[in-house]
Parts: sequence; C-alpha cells; structure tokens
Amino acid sequence: MATRKKLKKGVWVFFVVILFLSIAIYSGINIYKDYQYKQTYEYKLLEIGYTKDEVNKLKEVFKNEELDIFLESEKNEDILNLIDEKYFLKKNFEKYLSYKEKNKKKELSEIVRNINLHLDKKYYEELQNTNQSLDTLMLVNKYYALPSDYEPTELVTISTKYAWGTKGSKKTRQVTLDAFLEMWDQAMEDGYYLMINSAYRSYQDQEKVYNDRKNSRGEKYADSVAARPGSSEHQTGLSLDIFSKNNSNQSTFKDTPEAAWLKENAHKYGFVLRYPEDKVNITGYSYESWHYRYVGVDVATKCFEENITFDEYYAYYLEK
Ligand code: DAL
Ligand code: ZN
Repeated sequence: MATRKKLKKGVWVFFVVILFLSIAIYSGINIYKDYQYKQTYEYKLLEIGYTKDEVNKLKEVFKNEELDIFLESEKNEDILNLIDEKYFLKKNFEKYLSYKEKNKKKELSEIVRNINLHLDKKYYEELQNTNQSLDTLMLVNKYYALPSDYEPTELVTISTKYAWGTKGSKKTRQVTLDAFLEMWDQAMEDGYYLMINSAYRSYQDQEKVYNDRKNSRGEKYADSVAARPGSSEHQTGLSLDIFSKNNSNQSTFKDTPEAAWLKENAHKYGFVLRYPEDKVNITGYSYESWHYRYVGVDVATKCFEENITFDEYYAYYLEK
C-alpha cells in the first residue's frame, strides 16, 4: 500500500516537474524571441513612430545596415516623401537630406532635382570631363565638358540647301545630318522650310562666340546665352541651331509656326529642344527656341513625354 502511494506521489512530482520545466522553457523561448525582435530594425523603427507600412517601404529601399541613420533622429516625414519622388536616387539620399536642412523652404521635388543635377553647386565650379564613350548621349553642359582638342568623328558638310553660309562652311556629325534630313523632309511636306544657321563649332570657334558676347555685354550676359569653350554642345557635332528660311531672328523665331512645329515634332527624329523656356533654372541658359540636340528617337521621346531636359534625363536614367 505504502509503495503504491509512494509511486503515485512520484508520478505527481514527475509531472509537476515536467510542467514547470515546460513553462520555464516556453517562457525562456518567448523572452529570447522578444529580445531578438527588439534588436531588429523593424522594432526600433516602430518605436520611433514609423508605421508598419512605412517600415516596409524603408526596408524596400535600404539595406539593413543603412537603416541605422534613421535611428539617430526622430521620425522624419521628409525621408518617406523623398523616396516617393519620381526622380529619387538612393545614391544621393544623404545629400538630399543635408541640402533640405539648409534649404527648408524648397519643395522636395526641387531638392531631388537640384542634387541630381549638381545644381546645388555653382555653374562651372566643379567642371568634370564628360563621358565621351556615351557617344550620342554624352552630356555637355555647365558641369560636364569636353577637352579643347575634342573633335567629333565623321563630320560631314551640310549642303547650302539646308544651311546658311558659304559652301562647306557648316559641318555636323553624319548621324545628326541623317536625322535632320528626315525631319526636314517632313517639315517641308507640312509646309515649313527649315534652315540651319549653326552646327559643329570647334573649341576655338566657341571661344570666339563666348568672348564676343562677354566683351560686348559682360560675363553674366555671356553665360546666359553662350557656353564657355568646352561646355558647348556644338562641339559634339550633335547640336544644330534650326530656324526657318524666312526667319533666323533669335528674338522672334519662337513665335513662328516653324518653331511650334519643331517643338511638337523634333523628338520623332531624335532631337530635343535643349534650352526650353521653362527650364532656364536648370540649363542656365535663356530660352533658345532654335537649339536642338540629337540624342536618338527613344531618348528624345522620353524627354518629350516626361517634359524633362536632357540634363535631367542623363542624371536619372544614365548616370544613376
Ligand atoms: N548657345 C549655346 C548655349 C551654346 O553656346 O552652346
Ligand atoms: Zn545652339
């Protein structure tokens, strides 16, 4: 009898010990899991005030270790809104934040654009050599330049049927001429006679153009209408100043039907209007209703459809 009682008690003790052990192990696992979760970025970001969706958005864009920067400060709405900007580039993220800090009144779209295009720096302040290997897509502007000895390959003469000046005086790249001639034919069919008055210009030609403007009306004016040598697209052999046979006047061409035709149609032949009226803050040049740059049909169409300059296209689609 006593042995049976002892056995029963033993079984009870055994089960109680097992039960306690199970509870202890279960709690231990949970405490450990909780501890582990508290080490995650998700937990830390939620603690700061980001919502679950916002945390997921951050995790989509940034790698784990890159999320540290968000833990250093309070929840920042700008960060989330920046990511949603159409032309947001992750590589510029920290630059956007510090630029925004110094320019609190600027919209985020402007912050993104200015940083992407180096517009936070003064024109010509940090001139880099352009990437010539991009060929018809090389960027030449007030931040990216060509060396003084750069001359395009395959320069061809433009017939005086299409360009003012003496025979053989106007040259351009073959690829530019081919696209222009195709455009010229269509324009002619639509009743417009297009004429070129400036095409390829060497570094030395541009030096003269720029210095003439500078000597007559000063540096500020010169910089608004002409590129400094090395920074003119005309040196690439890919740019053309296109007017109409009966109007080659820089002040009035913009109001002609030919200017309107070019604006609407040039992209179909691979040309972009390079210095538009509403993009002066980007290009750094006054509106040039006549200056077209060959970039190929796909890129020109994209620029046209997104209403962006080639500088913006380059920063977002080529340089990133
Ligand atoms: N007029 C344009 C900007 C040039 O000089 O290349
Ligand atoms: Zn031009």
